[in-house]
Amino acid sequence: MHATGVPVVAAIRGIALGGGLELALACDARCVAPDAGIGLPEAKIGLIPGAGGTQRLPRIVGIERALDLILEGREIDGAEAFKLGLAERLDDDVGAAAAKLALEMADGAVGVSTRNHTAEPNEAAIEAAKAGRVRRGFSPLARAKAIEAIEASARLPLAEGIALEAELFDDCANSAEAKALQYRFFAERQARKWPSSNTDSVDRQILTTAVVGAGTMGADIALAFVLKQIPVTLVDSNRGTLDKAIRRIHSGIDSAVAKGRLDEKGANNARLGLQTADSIDQVGKPDLAIEAVFESISVKKDVFSALDRVVAPNTILATNTSTLDIDAIAHATSRPEHVVGMHFFSPAHVMRLLEVVQGKRTRPDVIAASMRLGRHLGKATILAGNAWGFIGNCTFEPYVRECNRLLLEGASPAQVDRALTEFGMAMGMFAVADLSGNDVRAALIAEQAKQQSDAEREETKAVFAVLLRLVDHGRFGVKSGAGFYRYDGDARRAIPDPFVDDLIAETAADMKIARRKISDAEIIACCFDPLVNEGLRLVDQGIAQRASDIDVAWLNGFGYPATRGGPMYNAEAGGLAALTARLETASQRLAAPYFRPTPLLRRLVAENAKLADAARHVTRATS
Ligand code: NAI
Repeated sequence: MHATGVPVVAAIRGIALGGGLELALACDARCVAPDAGIGLPEAKIGLIPGAGGTQRLPRIVGIERALDLILEGREIDGAEAFKLGLAERLDDDVGAAAAKLALEMADGAVGVSTRNHTAEPNEAAIEAAKAGRVRRGFSPLARAKAIEAIEASARLPLAEGIALEAELFDDCANSAEAKALQYRFFAERQARKWPSSNTDSVDRQILTTAVVGAGTMGADIALAFVLKQIPVTLVDSNRGTLDKAIRRIHSGIDSAVAKGRLDEKGANNARLGLQTADSIDQVGKPDLAIEAVFESISVKKDVFSALDRVVAPNTILATNTSTLDIDAIAHATSRPEHVVGMHFFSPAHVMRLLEVVQGKRTRPDVIAASMRLGRHLGKATILAGNAWGFIGNCTFEPYVRECNRLLLEGASPAQVDRALTEFGMAMGMFAVADLSGNDVRAALIAEQAKQQSDAEREETKAVFAVLLRLVDHGRFGVKSGAGFYRYDGDARRAIPDPFVDDLIAETAADMKIARRKISDAEIIACCFDPLVNEGLRLVDQGIAQRASDIDVAWLNGFGYPATRGGPMYNAEAGGLAALTARLETASQRLAAPYFRPTPLLRRLVAENAKLADAARHVTRATS
């Protein structure tokens, strides 16, 4: 900017992230509005800042602060930017303030820094950053390169630093991790689009809500609402449950304040926004009522018909069911077009995934309002069709099933979990199973059996034989002190148990299965291949709009590593033809129908097409 011969001052209002801030950093000074959004978020997509960002920021705010902002891709507001010294002036009227500052600089009343000096060295901060942990969902490579670039700002003249930054940027841009993280970014954006997303004319606001059922999910959904300043009436027929929920919500609000995510004013609003009632008759006239009562179709139908009677005619009625038929629930009301699924994941105020489930008659504006609410809550929101388990749980099933099969074939729970966590999953499947409760899974197997053919029932019982025997031994998981692992009084420490190894060996012997050594690579293929196949079946059937929505579900709901893009993306990276071949082999060996490559997968391979084009190859198959 010095080439212009006059001082150049950036006025920042609204968002200045990445390129916007990099440009402002190249100016002689900056004026910011208090609510401006400022940051260098490149780390979130596996890159380092470019255009001199890694060189100029440490020169302006110091190495330690630059590390904090760049490595985390942290967004700050104008007030914080001013406090950190990133901006010279803080003013609501940034235009006028910038003009004034420029004139003062031109007059010589305020000095213009040439910034040709290097940044103040800070060895300790650099060493601490090098020793620091790479945050989940961030690229280790981009972190290392960013530290290298920032370190150079204290050593190299600006022009040389910028040249080094460009080289380091290229190293990151060409990495598989960066490509996967960028894919994730675009997949989440794409998920916000659906056929009528642009044609929705009625703009429905959701300003007030009710949640029916104050158990695990209901309390956390209510917390998610009040944290975003949406008032909620929480209803439960059990007074004790309500009292517990109030305590849980208040402690959630306090913890948001402690973590700096909510200020005192917001916290007060959140507390005031929570009302409770022990009868549906007292829900008032909310814009949206969501139900989180027991997973029973008859209980849900009763709740919906009661809600239908008391709320306003155009109130949206949503269900948090994990598996039940949205249309059957809608049928219990006089307004099926206002009924929608809103499937949160536990804990609802933390997990980023939300599935909006469209019933046969759900109106486009109801879908639009639900999708918008999801975004407002900060959720990665996907639209799903109405089928058992929607997108998330439906694709989770083959994953759980194959992990269980691996035990009979020769692996141990600890080996499967280690292979999965080394691959990057947040938790191993058996650790998750012990947390969710093996008794809950056994009950689900019994429930599913009612709709299955004899052959399917036998197959399910066989695959889950170890789990069912564990339940017979009272090993329900963490809650009973033992499951696939033992816990010895510490729920966070899963200890491999020889009892389980013996039980697995015995079960396999009873079933005449010869156990063998299984490699980690085989474990990964076994766990994810059938999931991808199932995902493509959902795309073919129109339950998922696109393959990338399945990735959004797994990245945000099931702890899949973001640096691998998602199970669908990762399968494509490994080759769809190779996937098909592996499925064919499994299908011949294990003779279970779900290994057969789905027709959509075969068509994609035959036509050498990409997953991104899967929708064009859809035939709405029912297989
Ligand atoms: P929960 O058993 O903890 O809570 C259910 C609550 O509903 C209880 O407090 C009960 O008193 C209340 N309730 C039952 N009938 C009622 C009625 N007629 N009027 C008012 N309150 C009534 O159950 P949880 O785990 O919270 O599950 C709720 C729903 O969320 C289920 O449909 C479940 O499938 C779904 N879900 C559960 C997830 C989980 O991880 N627990 C995850 C995603 C969805």
